[in-house]
Amino acid sequence: MEIEMTRVHRRTILQAAGAAIGAMAIGSLAGDRAFAQQATERAIIRRAIPKTGEEIPVVGLGTFETFDILPGEPREHLREIMRRFHEAGGRVVDTSPLYGMSEVSVGDFATELGIADDLFITNKTWTTGEWLSDDSHSEAQFRRSMERLWRNRMDVQQVHSLENFDQVLHLLRRWKDEGRVRYIGVTQWSPEYYDTMERLIRTGDLDFVQVNYTIFSRQAEERILPACADNGVAVQINIPFEKARLFTCVEGRLLPEFAAEFGAKTWAQFFLKFIIAHPAVTNVVPATSNPDHLTDNMGALYGELPDEAMRARMVEHMQGIEGFADTLRQPPYPGKNYGGVVTWPFRRA
Ligand SMILES: NC(=O)c1ccc[n+]([C@@H]2O[C@H](COP(=O)([O-])OP(=O)(O)OC[C@H]3O[C@@H](n4cnc5c(N)ncnc54)[C@H](OP(=O)(O)O)[C@@H]3O)[C@@H](O)[C@H]2O)c1
Repeated sequence: MEIEMTRVHRRTILQAAGAAIGAMAIGSLAGDRAFAQQATERAIIRRAIPKTGEEIPVVGLGTFETFDILPGEPREHLREIMRRFHEAGGRVVDTSPLYGMSEVSVGDFATELGIADDLFITNKTWTTGEWLSDDSHSEAQFRRSMERLWRNRMDVQQVHSLENFDQVLHLLRRWKDEGRVRYIGVTQWSPEYYDTMERLIRTGDLDFVQVNYTIFSRQAEERILPACADNGVAVQINIPFEKARLFTCVEGRLLPEFAAEFGAKTWAQFFLKFIIAHPAVTNVVPATSNPDHLTDNMGALYGELPDEAMRARMVEHMQGIEGFADTLRQPPYPGKNYGGVVTWPFRRA
C-alpha cells in the first residue's frame, strides 16, 4: 500500500502562528508554539483525490451536532477545536445546511482564525418535498452556505444522503461547470442504499462519495470501496466512531500491545488508523465537541499505518471483546427516519 507523506506547508504554519496569537486567552503562547513546531517537524499522512491528484490530509473534522450551537449558547470550545485542528495539519471540514448552525460556527471561527482560505470544505445539498418543484430552493440553500462559510466556491458539494439524487446531481454538475464547485459527489451511511450508490459510482461521473466504514461496520469493503478504486472516486468516511459507541465497547480496557507497532497510542487512533489504512479511503471525518478529543484524533494523522494482516488482527481483537456486537447492533440513528421526512434543519435531540 502506498501512503503519501508530506510536510505541513509553510503557509499553514504561518497561519497557525497567527491563530495561536489570537488564542492566547485559551492556551499559553509558549505551548501553542510548541504545538505548531511539532506539526512542522512531523510528517502527516495525505491522500490524493483520484480525479486530479490534489492531496488532502487523511484526517478531517465532522460537524454534525457538535458544531450546531444556537445563539447564546457557549461555543468558544469550537474555536479551540478549529485552532488545534488546523495547527495539527488538518484542512478537510465536513458540514451541511442540514446541520443547524454548524456552517455558521465553521465560517465564523475559520474567519477569525485566518484559516478560511486554507480549509477544504465538503458540503452538501439537501432538498425534499415541495422545494423540489424547481431548483430555486437548492440554489438559495447553496448561496446561503457560501455566505455562512465565507466562500465563493465550494471544494466538494454532495447530495446529502442521496436525497433526490437524480434531480440534485444535475444541479451539482451545472455548478461544477460554472466553477462554483470543484468536486461533486453523494453521501450515505446506511448499507440499504449501497446498491444505488454503487450504480452511481460506476456510471455517475462522481468525484467523491461519503460512506460509513468502521472496524465494526465493514460492508463498504464489499462493493463500495472497490467500485471507488476502479472508477477513480475519492472516498470520505463518516461516523468513524459509530457515534462514540466504539468507545463504550472498550471502556476500561487497555489497548493491545500490538497497537504500538503502527503508532496508535489511544483507542481513537486505533479506530481511525484501521479506517485510513484501507487504500481506497481518501479521508475520514470524526466529530467532537471536546478539544482534547480533537488532539487525540489528530494523532492518527501521523506515523505508521497497519498493513492488511495487522488490520485482520485488529478486527479479531475487537470481536473477542465481550458485548462488541451487541453494543453496535442497533443502527447509529435509532428511531430517526433519514429516508423520508426529517425536520430541517436537523437539530440535536
Ligand atoms: N449522510 C451523511 O452525509 C452523514 C451522516 C452521518 C455523519 N456524517 C458526517 O460524519 C461526521 C462524523 O460522524 P458523527 O458525528 O455522526 O459520529 P462519530 O464521529 O462517529 O462520533 C462522534 C462521537 O464520538 C465522540 N468522540 C470523538 N472523538 C473522541 C475521542 N477521541 N474520545 C472519546 N470520544 C470521542 C464524540 O464525543 P465528544 O464530543 O465528547 O468528543 C461524539 O459523541 C459527522 O459529524 C458528519 O460531518 C455525514
